[in-house]
Amino acid sequence: MRRRKVPWSDLFDAARKARQRAYAPYSRFAVGAAAYFEDGQIASGCNVENASYGLSVCAERHAVGCGIARFGPRRLLAMAIIADGAVPPPPCGACRQVMAEFAGGELPVRCRTLRGREKRFTLRQLLPHAFSNAFL
Ligand code: THU
Repeated sequence: MRRRKVPWSDLFDAARKARQRAYAPYSRFAVGAAAYFEDGQIASGCNVENASYGLSVCAERHAVGCGIARFGPRRLLAMAIIADGAVPPPPCGACRQVMAEFAGGELPVRCRTLRGREKRFTLRQLLPHAFSNAFL
């Protein structure tokens, strides 16, 4: 199967727009993410915090869930993440595991700052021993 070329600039545009809608009154750290799915669909997400801090949802998990709600469960082919900080923001451990549910270790994950500094990873680098349902 020929791999589609990942439209990174569309993904970062979507992530940047979603970030502007972040609800982060407690941390004041707004994050945007965009998930690219197998059939070319893009879904974005932002972090949504809560007065009960632990209930806050990260942008990446939000983007994955939003894509599934809109298009149905399907394979994740790429993930873009953007935040305003000195260094590009890698996804948290929980979000890595959620990505692993819908993607293989080759999933490309790119993280950018608003000023354009970028870090590139594969999911395998970020989460070398993902828990998988193969154990069930
Ligand atoms: N956050 C994300 O949205 N993604 C991550 O991968 C790490 C952290 C959010 C959660 C919280 O709203 C804020 O950033 C500060 O931790």
